[in-house]
Amino acid sequence: MTELLNQLERVMPTEIKGRVARTVGMAIHVNGFPAPLGATAMIQRETGSPLFVEVVGIQENTTIVSPLGSTTGVRRGDQVRLVKTGRWIRVGDGLLGRVVNAFGEVIDGHPASTLNRRTDLDSPPPSAVNRPRISEILPTGVRVMDAMLTCGRGQRMGVFAGSGVGKSVLLGMMARYTGADVSVIALIGERGREVNEFIENELGEEGLKRSVVVVATSDEPAQVRVRAAMAATAIAESFRARGQHVLLLMDSLTRFAQAQREIGLAAGEPPATRGYPPSVFAALPKLVERAGCTKQGSITGFYSVLVEADDPQEPIADAVRGLLDGHTWLSRGLASRGHYPAVDVLESLSRLMPQITTPEHLAAARRIREILAAYRDHEDLISIGAYRPGANTTVDVAIAARDQINAFLQQAPEQNSGGQQGIAQLIQLANVCQLPTGVNPAVQAGAHQGVSATPRPTVATNQ
Ligand SMILES: Nc1ncnc2c1ncn2[C@@H]1O[C@H](COP(=O)(O)OP(=O)(O)O)[C@@H](O)[C@H]1O
Ligand SMILES: [Mg+2]
Repeated sequence: MTELLNQLERVMPTEIKGRVARTVGMAIHVNGFPAPLGATAMIQRETGSPLFVEVVGIQENTTIVSPLGSTTGVRRGDQVRLVKTGRWIRVGDGLLGRVVNAFGEVIDGHPASTLNRRTDLDSPPPSAVNRPRISEILPTGVRVMDAMLTCGRGQRMGVFAGSGVGKSVLLGMMARYTGADVSVIALIGERGREVNEFIENELGEEGLKRSVVVVATSDEPAQVRVRAAMAATAIAESFRARGQHVLLLMDSLTRFAQAQREIGLAAGEPPATRGYPPSVFAALPKLVERAGCTKQGSITGFYSVLVEADDPQEPIADAVRGLLDGHTWLSRGLASRGHYPAVDVLESLSRLMPQITTPEHLAAARRIREILAAYRDHEDLISIGAYRPGANTTVDVAIAARDQINAFLQQAPEQNSGGQQGIAQLIQLANVCQLPTGVNPAVQAGAHQGVSATPRPTVATNQ
């Protein structure tokens, strides 16, 4: 079967041909080449191997193609030939535990697996009317996420963070501990060293076993980085189509957008919002809309977004926020204090949490939020010793329960909090935090996992 498909690929080349006319930056202009947009073509270099390219633009007499490899050795007049009009990759269970490139080819040094199905890189998203409602929780094994930012199967979340605040570690923990059947991890535009570190340290052997890692490093052409994001999505779709629940982790969506910007500008598009051409803002929803539920299975997507110099109004961050069902904000301030995962709960939100959690869980999460907010609002006073105990009941509880709450929100990378267990701990913590002023919850409950506190009604009177 695979052999047949291989042959089919070889016989597909048609008679559409053209010649290299000139290059503009990373774009190659080809004369007399009526190939359709999205098609893959091949430039026959006089020396070296042929260069694969993708059609990205059409002007009056030229077709603009974007390279899928190094352009060294391309000459004016080189022949360009259409290879295939569709974009697809091979998929199958043989991908599990493997590291592949944007073309679905294994790059982990082990022999290739047999993959006998093909899937389109450009599949349309599940149609709006056929998307079942998101109703089940997807446990991630990261306590702060499961308890405070509960996600549903099929939900799409943004992970907003600067560099070095613990994004890779967090994504690795989710991939390892998730209750999903399969994790598909797209590493887009990272440095090669970071990729190896992620696979060896953050994901580890255990995590890799039920994951597929799709990689396009920063030194690869923009077209390849864009394709890798699509390939990862297509691989996730192929598992979903077979009834599985998939966790799709994309790091980062910003690098995908930047690659799309390079392509758009090279194809002659005008820059619009802060240097980003319109095609970028068309490509983003097209990609993230493909996650979600179908009747068969689900793709829960976590897309990381880089917020450079802590500028939340950055155009990509801004556009992505509107596309997703929630966001997790990683704070540099927390990370610098050694508070990991550095999730700033008050700045983060899972929009679907109310519809998938129990009233008890939701009320407990709201209570902890309220306490965190009270502490934040009075932090300056507290830190200089100017806060007068008794002035505000919630602040009193916040001060007394500070260590317990922080211990609850933090988690070491090698620790799996278990989805349900994290929620039970949250409810217990919220109960402890209902205590009237004057009673020190730390004394009452011992550790945050302690069981000595008497459960009290979970809905706070002041909510
Ligand atoms: N849960 C955690 N527990 C302890 N340290 C962590 C945790 N998450 C991140 N770190 C620390 O933060 C560093 C940077 O994390 P990393 O995930 O590589 O950041 P990013 O991917 O955002 O650049 C790690 O090397 C580690 O020292
Ligand atoms: Mg990283």
